[in-house]
Amino acid sequence: MTDTMIAVIGGSGIYDIDGLEGATWQAVETPWGTPSDEVLTGRLDGVKMAFLPRHGRGHYHSPTTVPYRANIDALKRLGVTDVISVSACGSFREEMAPGHFVVVDDFIDRTFAREKSFFGEGLVAHVSVAHPTCPRLGDACFTAAKDAGITVHKGGTYLAMEGPQFSSTAESRMYRSWGCDVIGMTNMPEAKLAREAELCYASIAMVTDYDSWHPDHGAVDINEIIKVLTGNADKGREMIRRLPALLGSDRAPCPHHCDRALEYALMTAPDK
Ligand code: ADE
Repeated sequence: MTDTMIAVIGGSGIYDIDGLEGATWQAVETPWGTPSDEVLTGRLDGVKMAFLPRHGRGHYHSPTTVPYRANIDALKRLGVTDVISVSACGSFREEMAPGHFVVVDDFIDRTFAREKSFFGEGLVAHVSVAHPTCPRLGDACFTAAKDAGITVHKGGTYLAMEGPQFSSTAESRMYRSWGCDVIGMTNMPEAKLAREAELCYASIAMVTDYDSWHPDHGAVDINEIIKVLTGNADKGREMIRRLPALLGSDRAPCPHHCDRALEYALMTAPDK
């Protein structure tokens, strides 16, 4: 058994954790550079917690410039065991309406301008991301969201786009035809890097809009997004508040092997 340490990587609208005891902002440096911001650490219901604002407290990192490798490595160095990503998304499903949450369980990665691996120079490793999220962690998020009175959908495929512009109507229709459920700009390569770092990872996508496929909603409207985002952030905080009690402070090995991902990876030794 090790100590559980839950990290929340907060997206637009969430900038801290309510009720954190002994809250301290800590600067962490990594070989991959400086993370998006300092990491807020403390305890909630006796469980170690960390919070990292993905875009920085002044929202100065675009989805492309977020230092994803430094962020995941900083959390690993602090002793984090479980990473929960919270982010805004568009929806491709009528029933996944603005204000709803989706516990994402798969991704299509269409980002192309980001560093996506800790491996490659000398040490090559290929980890499996066939199941890129941790079902144990996703289930806890689902329960926490439900208990907080949030309308939450269990399972969904997230299309990660480069941005920063939103999709064209043709792109939006195409992603929908691919079977995607939601779209956002930040969960990749974050999920892949968490797997390489042997961290359990779950993603809660908070729906703000119907992207641009919906005949009754037209283009993405920024004012609408901001309105929904504020309500979603309050709900997100309520969900996070309930997570430590559900996950507990003693961490058994992950039943899905997220914490041993490199044991199952294809790796080559460094050049001599
Ligand atoms: N974040 C919130 N809504 C989005 C959308 N429609 N596309 C990409 N990212 C988003």
